[in-house]
Amino acid sequence: MAAKQIGDPRLTEVVEDLLATLRGFIRKHQISHEEYRRALAFMIETAEKGEIPLLFDVFLEATVDQVDAAGRDGTETSVEGPFYAPNAPLMKSPCVLPHRASEPGDVLLLSGVVRSTDSEALGGAMLDMWQSDAQGAYSHFNIPEDRAPWNLRARVIADENGRFEVQTWVPSPYQVPKDGPTGALLRGIGRHAWRPAHLHLRITHDSCETLTTQLFFTGDPWIDSDVVGAVKQSLIVTLNKHQDPADLLKRGFDKPYYTISYDFALPRLVRKAA
Ligand code: BEZ
Ligand code: FE
Repeated sequence: MAAKQIGDPRLTEVVEDLLATLRGFIRKHQISHEEYRRALAFMIETAEKGEIPLLFDVFLEATVDQVDAAGRDGTETSVEGPFYAPNAPLMKSPCVLPHRASEPGDVLLLSGVVRSTDSEALGGAMLDMWQSDAQGAYSHFNIPEDRAPWNLRARVIADENGRFEVQTWVPSPYQVPKDGPTGALLRGIGRHAWRPAHLHLRITHDSCETLTTQLFFTGDPWIDSDVVGAVKQSLIVTLNKHQDPADLLKRGFDKPYYTISYDFALPRLVRKAA
């Protein structure tokens, strides 16, 4: 008699439940053979067009983030999304993010302190930052790499007191890519594709849990209807406008600029029992 196969317990539990959920869903909605084939064709097209990360991050990542963050202290988390690129240039605070000679939009100075949730300043914390430009485009994805390598992306090292000061540009709201299957599905279910403007941060320090989060801006037209559902109230900040001519002259800016001050708190590492 063949020996009974023993699978991975966690994988077995979630896959069996996923299958039971999907079978129940098929019965509940009386899914026809034609609809089943259409769903398969949609998944094949999504894979062929390289949109699997986009599709999953648009529809599911915010829920994974909520589940993962339950009971976590410190600054609230938000989704990473599909536009992160590892190994961005390393820079020491204070610094200016890599940008084009005539970067469009308004200058933004972001500053603050990275601490642990027990209030120790985290000297040398690393803030991996990425964002869209003022026209809603991300380097590596929709700005050709040869024209803007690492545009508005960097790994910024905070000083010995956990303090960081970064010059960047105010991002704009943007629509997640609409021309492929993910966009077609959003249209098909009557949803728009807009995300409110945001800055992405992934903050690390040896003694703490990684914080992946985003900062959003007060008054953004899409703040209450993010297609991804990733906005959290504590992550909405106000852009302070500065237009004093003497200050602008001193800083070498030819138009008003904006500032945000925001401190981050990271929970201590949870040491898992061996
Ligand atoms: C983003 O933050 O850029 C993003 C997140 C999830 C899906 C699509 C985009
Ligand atoms: Fe984004």
